[in-house]
Amino acid sequence: MDKAQLKAKFEEMFGSGGTIRFFSSPGRVNMIGEHTDYNGGYVFPAALSMRTMIAFRERQDNIIRMAATDLDVLVEADINNLDNYKDLKWGNYQLGIADVMKKQGYYIGGCDMLFDDTTPHGGGLSSSAAIEVATAIAFATISNEKKGIDAPVDNIEMAKISQKAEHEYIGVKCGIMDQFASAMGKKDHAIFLNCATLDYKLVPLNIKGCKLVIANTNKKRSLADSKYNERRSECETAVEILSQYLPGITCLADVSVADFEKYADKIENETVRRRAAHVVYEIDRVVKSVEALEKDDIAYFGKLMNASHDSLRDLYEVTGIELDTLVEEARRLPGTIGSRMTGAGFGGCTVSIVKDEAVDEFKEKVGAAYTAKIGYAPSFYISEIGDGGREIK
Ligand code: GLA
Repeated sequence: MDKAQLKAKFEEMFGSGGTIRFFSSPGRVNMIGEHTDYNGGYVFPAALSMRTMIAFRERQDNIIRMAATDLDVLVEADINNLDNYKDLKWGNYQLGIADVMKKQGYYIGGCDMLFDDTTPHGGGLSSSAAIEVATAIAFATISNEKKGIDAPVDNIEMAKISQKAEHEYIGVKCGIMDQFASAMGKKDHAIFLNCATLDYKLVPLNIKGCKLVIANTNKKRSLADSKYNERRSECETAVEILSQYLPGITCLADVSVADFEKYADKIENETVRRRAAHVVYEIDRVVKSVEALEKDDIAYFGKLMNASHDSLRDLYEVTGIELDTLVEEARRLPGTIGSRMTGAGFGGCTVSIVKDEAVDEFKEKVGAAYTAKIGYAPSFYISEIGDGGREIK
């Protein structure tokens, strides 16, 4: 929906009058650097033009009312009991944000909100980060105005609040990548982000003559959260062991490739060793990818993307037959420069760099082969890289 349609729908649901404002934040695609963020490493995500847009109007009481344009749902929550809504199927992300922000001293007042998402739900493109960051920006904007703070909303702070809500309210120990990309994205750029320091550089995503094609497995994700937390603790185990030989390291990003090669065999558990190997080499690949892009060497960037996927399949084991099939079929085509899964894995999406003239063939051939093998069709999006979260005036 565009803004006018969303406004009309909002008035139909919540009545007309008052000032209706609009806040928006995008989903993201990660180009490379997977499962490195919570290890203090580098990531390289970009914000999409797919987004969440909220129509927002203040209320004069303590009730937050929320609905979505694509769901038959109306949630009503009491601001003084925000702890009570953790088990909601829809609305828990938003109320998690309200809870965290209220505890941090932001003004949180009653409001009506209508959400319109163009990022596919559960598709690995961070539809949840989009919802969180858009909600946080809405609340922070109102809070600043009530408190007479005449400064723009600090989007990095909004990313941190959103991650905290995931940890404390939703119970997923995610890294900072998705929320940071949603909050800080810039049109036609990817973000080279150091997840330990949050230092970042915007790098033009120069893929002249090519398109970014996102392919959605359309697999229903289950178990993703528990497996995610399991990978995280395997990495922590590796750090504990390696720190006996490399005193002072606090995360896998502190371990160089050379040091890892020297001490890898001290990690007796083979699974833990493979997890750590993925992370150490993946962080190195991110650095090399940014260098390649800056030198206009898309071919090498594509090779690094391929290597990233293979490592996520063989060492980190977060792909599965759906993602692997999409990637294998993509790589059969000469017009594919590189192809890999993006996001947490276990379903979700792949991202491929495909030559302009080969995009139609890509959709057709990859789509047909996937459907034949998996039994249902994937979806394709030709993605545009957009801006991060903001109020839409
Ligand atoms: C999910 C998490 C991110 C990141 C990726 C894997 O998207 O939310 O923090 O860990 O998985 O790279």
